[in-house]
Formats: sequence, structure tokens, C-alpha cells
Amino acid sequence: MKIPQHVAIILDGNGRWAKAKGMPRNYGHAQGSKNVETICREAWNLGIKYLTVYAFSTENWKRPDDEVEALMKLLRNYMKTCLKTAEKNHMKVRVIGDKTGLDEDIRTRIDELERASAGNDGLNFQIAINYGSRDEMIRAMKRMAADRDAGKLEIDDITEETFSSYLDTAGIPDPDLLIRTSGEQRLSNYLLWQLAYTEFYFADVHWPDFTKEELVKAIEAYNRRDRRYGGVREE
Ligand code: IPE
Ligand code: IPE
Ligand code: MG
Repeated sequence: MKIPQHVAIILDGNGRWAKAKGMPRNYGHAQGSKNVETICREAWNLGIKYLTVYAFSTENWKRPDDEVEALMKLLRNYMKTCLKTAEKNHMKVRVIGDKTGLDEDIRTRIDELERASAGNDGLNFQIAINYGSRDEMIRAMKRMAADRDAGKLEIDDITEETFSSYLDTAGIPDPDLLIRTSGEQRLSNYLLWQLAYTEFYFADVHWPDFTKEELVKAIEAYNRRDRRYGGVREE
């Protein structure tokens, strides 16, 4: 079986999963965060080198205050757990998204986690927090404009590669496979530039129920695809 090098996941359905059990949405988020740990481990065991998960979007601030608060609390705790996990399994962690919109203490924990894991040679694990693809591209364009003003960038030097290098995902290969759980079939402002030639897979299960077996099913479906990049069939 061909294993995709980079898998991106829109982990969706925590709320519905909890509701179906007669539990509060935040219980679903807590279970969902535990499942991220499991899937990181399984992904690496399967041979996946890059995993990028969508944890909190730039649009998710519109949720009720108590849910946003609970999600931020969870992220705070998760950064601590992730620091220990990364030490154990050698993951290299990077947070993508606008960190300036996050509370100071969360930013400190993110810095700590990125710094401590930077030299690791295991799974490259990207967490999208306060991430929106349109926001990412606007931030990239502003930095490009500033570099041009400073004489560091010429208009004629702007290529797809240059633009990519200004994105939060600079240096990370584009995803080969995108998975969205919970049946919804939209991108919700996730990696719009990076997913240009990615294969999409939609799983019916809610994120807390997305197991190793579900991940294998997604990879099997990916293997049945006839990938093209505008040309003829890739052998
Ligand atoms: C995904 O689950 C987690 C986040 C977006 C933070 P949801 O909270 O979107 O769960 P549903 O889609 O409402 O069921
Ligand atoms: C996308 O899920 C964002 C994350 C998974 C963090 P949402 O549940 O917020 O997306 P919509 O609102 O259904 O499009
Ligand atoms: Mg959702």
C-alpha cells in the first residue's frame, strides 16, 4: 500500500458526537483532543511523515463564549501534554495560524513546544490554531509587500515557490490526502493554496470515533485514486 507522505485532517464532529451521547459539547472536545494523540501515534506507525490537524479556525471565535473558553483551556492543557508526547515519540511540532490572536500564556507554551521539538526526527506534526487560509494568505502578502518596500523582494521574483515560502506552512510539502470526519464536505477555510492537487476523503464517523482502522480505510481509498497533476496517469 502506498502511504501518503502528508495527511491533513479537518477534525470535525466533536459536538455531535457528545450530543449523541447526551453529553455537553465540551466533553466531545476533550475526547477529540485525546484522539489527536492516538492518531499521531498510528499515523507514524503507518509511515506517514507529516500530519496537519485543524484544531481552531479564525471563524471559530464566533462560537458561544463558554465554548471558546473551554477550547482555549483544552489547547492550553494540550500544549503541555504534547510537549511530553513529543519528547517520548520525537515528533517535531509546529503551530500554524495567527499566533498573535492567542493569549500570551498559550503563545509562550507554543514557543516552548516548537523550540523543544525543533530538532526531532519523528512525525512532523502541524497544529492549526486560529488558522484560516485566507488570513494566512493576507498575512503572507503583507510580509511580501513589506519586503518589497525594504528592497528585499523584487516583483519579478514572485513565483509560486516564493509565495509558498511566505505561508505558515513554508518548507512543508503539500498534503497528499485530506480527511474530513463527520460527513461534512467543505474546506472551511483550510489550506486552500496547499490543497490544490490533494485527494479528498470524507469519513462519516465523528472525530472522537476516528480510529486507526478509519485511517487505514482512508489510505486504502487514496490508493484506489488515479492521481493526476493536470497531465496523464501517474504510474
Ligand atoms: C470539531 O468539532 C472541533 C472544532 C471545530 C474545534 P465541532 O465542534 O465542529 O463539532 P460539530 O461539528 O459541531 O459536531
Ligand atoms: C472546521 O470545523 C474548523 C475546525 C475543525 C477547527 P467547523 O465545524 O468549525 O466548520 P464549519 O463551521 O462546519 O464549516
Ligand atoms: Mg463542526
